[in-house]
Amino acid sequence: MTGRLTAVVLGAALVLAGIGLSLPALATPAENLKVLPKGMDKKDVKPIMKKWAKALGVDCDHCHHDDGMAIDTKKKEAARAMLEMVMAVNEKYMKKLDAELTCMTCHQGDVKPKK
Ligand code: HEC
Ligand code: HEC
Repeated sequence: MTGRLTAVVLGAALVLAGIGLSLPALATPAENLKVLPKGMDKKDVKPIMKKWAKALGVDCDHCHHDDGMAIDTKKKEAARAMLEMVMAVNEKYMKKLDAELTCMTCHQGDVKPKK
């Protein structure tokens, strides 16, 4: 009897867990975007960030404050200027070539591109 009850409770728990897993993750909009589209979901921002970190050969904390990703730093400002430059070049010049300038084009895994 208790065995059956346990099985029923366990079954219900598994069903609930299944529902929980299938619910879409709650949207968590970024709080402080000035160049990327405002309110972009953090889960969409992160893959971009991973590319930047790789292109520069740094970790997230090269640009980000320990107390939160939304806090501005000098390096974030530098990265924003870089992003504006890259977007402008792509829009104005690269589109015609069907090509794309990226952080990696210059940085090649280094904070300071070779002269
Ligand atoms: C080269 C500098 C740089 C690196 C490295 C970097 N970030 Fe960022 N990150 C930025 C900048 C700049 C912004 C804001 C972009 C904007 O204003 O449009 C930002 C924004 C974010 C945000 C949104 C914060 C908010 O709520 O406004 C998250 C989350 C984030 N970064 C996560 C990461 C993670 C995780 C890594 C490491 C994998 C990382 N970043 C590496 C520069 C960087
Ligand atoms: C056209 C070449 C070019 C491209 C493309 C480029 N950068 Fe840079 N970046 C530079 C140069 C040159 C410097 C100055 C390095 C130095 O101090 O000598 C620099 C410096 C930086 C710095 C400041 C250096 C530091 O100490 O952290 C950051 C941050 C940065 N770039 C991020 C980015 C990001 C993010 C992208 C892509 C969105 C990007 N860059 C694309 C050429 C480029």
